Amino acid sequence: MSPMKVGLLGLGVVGGGTWKVLTQNAEEIARRAGRRIEIVAVAVRDIEKARRLVGDQVTVTTDGMEIVRNPDIDIVVELIGGDTLARDLVMEAINQGKHVVTANKALLARHGNEIFAAAHKKGVMVVFEAAVAGGIPIVKAIREGLTANRIQWLAGIINGTTNFILSEMRSRGLPFNTVLSEAQRLGYAEADPTFDIEGIDAAHKLTLLASLAFGIPVQFNKAHVEGISSLAQEDIAHAERLGYRIKLLGITRRRPDGIELRVHPTLVPMECLLANVEGAMNAVLVHGDAVGPTLYYGQGAGELPTASAVIADLIDVTRLQSADPDHHVPHLAFQPDAMDDIAILPI
Ligand code: NDP
Ligand code: HSE
Repeated sequence: MSPMKVGLLGLGVVGGGTWKVLTQNAEEIARRAGRRIEIVAVAVRDIEKARRLVGDQVTVTTDGMEIVRNPDIDIVVELIGGDTLARDLVMEAINQGKHVVTANKALLARHGNEIFAAAHKKGVMVVFEAAVAGGIPIVKAIREGLTANRIQWLAGIINGTTNFILSEMRSRGLPFNTVLSEAQRLGYAEADPTFDIEGIDAAHKLTLLASLAFGIPVQFNKAHVEGISSLAQEDIAHAERLGYRIKLLGITRRRPDGIELRVHPTLVPMECLLANVEGAMNAVLVHGDAVGPTLYYGQGAGELPTASAVIADLIDVTRLQSADPDHHVPHLAFQPDAMDDIAILPI
């Protein structure tokens, strides 16, 4: 069978990791996907830098539209970030009948309803495992593994940068800004780290999880969002003396009158599992009515863990597409015609 041809928008931390893992594990990936998956074109700002990674067998351009409109490309992987150019590129890719894989939670939390509706109408997939909790397959767990359940609540640490900052401030006494710079050097932080430290990135992810768990539209603008920027070393030490760790949690819960959707620093008793999740690790607890509590844990940010999730989506799309290319795969988040605008409750 001919290879699945991928156009990659962005070759930074996640895009670079995706290139590396696809190259390194090419044989296993081809076996599991049923055919080879090949990146044939890449869009970046700095062509010379990109060439040093991908060589000269791949088209490298600064014009993402050239990629999404290329009829030879089957799947577009959006790893540019932001919600302006990325939105135009994703909407055009859908319009061109291409499946889309993205790690961009900001884009989906803000424009997901429009994007998912367009994908549904066009019969293409928009998949986003890497957008929530890095390498942890939490989207798949909710969408597939727990699909028999009525999910009652979920709560978790879903931002690696802030968990890394809180852990390093507590365990090594390092100042906030020093640890933030280290998180940026390690590739954990967003291009604008305000998104991390003010809780916005966690709220983007929580919005997507709530949409999956409760079958509601994305409603980021209704989330309660508080970050960690006003926390001092003394707050962390004081919590520790009282038997708690401070964690930035995302919490969403079904209530009779609506859905709670909130991100804020939380005092977690030291004996709880979530209190002991350290560094850039993430952990999400999901409670379903049949299964009870379940826990998902792993690396929440960074080059290769996030690439692992991007490629899992690429393999999924390749398998589904190869099984029946004309089949209109149902959208993998929620069905736009089943949208239920449930009230998001104030806290
Ligand atoms: P980076 O900043 O490392 O990479 C962005 C890439 O996009 C770069 O290759 C850059 O080109 C390219 N790019 C930016 N603007 C343009 C443009 N106008 N035209 C063409 N190319 C452009 O970001 P990340 O890889 O960290 O993040 C990418 C996405 O993944 C974001 O949505 C982020 O939220 C998400 N994400 C990130 C995770 C992480 O751990 N870093 C984890 C999970 C999700 P150039 O290289 O030339 O500068
Ligand atoms: N900036 C994000 C984080 C990247 O630190 O969790 C992973 O989504």
